[in-house]
Amino acid sequence: MTSTSHKPRILVTRAIFPQVIDRLSEHFEVETNLADDLWDRAELLRRLQGKVGVFTTGVERIDADLLAQCPELKICANMTVGYNNFDLDAMTAAGVLGTNAPDVLTETTADFGFALLMATARRVTESEHFLRAGHWTRWSYDMFSGAEVHGSTLGILGMGRIGQAIARRGAFGFGMQVIYHNRSPLSAALELECKARYVSKQELLTTADHLVLVVPYSAASHHSIGAPELAMMKPTSTLINIARGGIVDDAALAQALKNRVIAAAGLDVFEGEPSVHPDLLTVPNVVLTPHIASATEGTRRAMADLAVDNLVGFLVHGRAVTPLNPGFTAAA
Ligand code: DGY
Repeated sequence: MTSTSHKPRILVTRAIFPQVIDRLSEHFEVETNLADDLWDRAELLRRLQGKVGVFTTGVERIDADLLAQCPELKICANMTVGYNNFDLDAMTAAGVLGTNAPDVLTETTADFGFALLMATARRVTESEHFLRAGHWTRWSYDMFSGAEVHGSTLGILGMGRIGQAIARRGAFGFGMQVIYHNRSPLSAALELECKARYVSKQELLTTADHLVLVVPYSAASHHSIGAPELAMMKPTSTLINIARGGIVDDAALAQALKNRVIAAAGLDVFEGEPSVHPDLLTVPNVVLTPHIASATEGTRRAMADLAVDNLVGFLVHGRAVTPLNPGFTAAA
């Protein structure tokens, strides 16, 4: 059937809140995926034909090859803060804007980082499995003895907004000494606000009792934590990854957990997710969650709303709220 609408056409790649579709439909002719099918590359390409904008969920690969086949596309709006699915250089070269959803998920994600840290240090899921399996027959003085959280040293790799929110929770909520490593140190004022001290990566690895990864994924951060880094960590320490799969070498981590090179890990993100390295599924000293750090209804709504604001802002009013491409000049 031929469309009679004169509204610009956009695509929403996955199921999303109905209110989001309603908002978009005020301005655009919207093709949705209410069945929430997982489209392969060919299907995504087919659906993108004739679309000027696309609402993405942080996993759809937008690169030169795809852009060459979608000449009408002007904006890709991720509802996530992470945007490693975008080849920004290729997008800029093709005159396509990329946007993400920063800030709105910071506190919720930091809450979850702490939840994972606590669950990992205090062996919450491991002991629950033990109880559910009917193994709990008596109390004993050393049963599921875990690592201290309050007063310990919290290490943070990557000190953006989420890292800072985790630092504040550690310093002010749990009396932890907070150390961090980042491409560049924070301003003195921000360090004071987070009660955090800049250290080298080596000092971070060797000193932290609990190391939280919040660094964005890039070629430079790929396998930033592998066998050599794990070997530098304390045997009593825990590692928490709420950043992106691929920052940790999952095979090396599984081996390190098995050999007690470190005490435990908490992982919300995985290399090649939703697949999980099979060895991680067999070691008991790891807490595994399915990429849910930002998953509260309010936060997911705010993330989706920001993607809508970007699509409407750019395509209707000529200005996106949170553009990514440096020096991007193309207009909608
Ligand atoms: C993000 O926003 O990047 C989170 O990882 C949710 O996918």
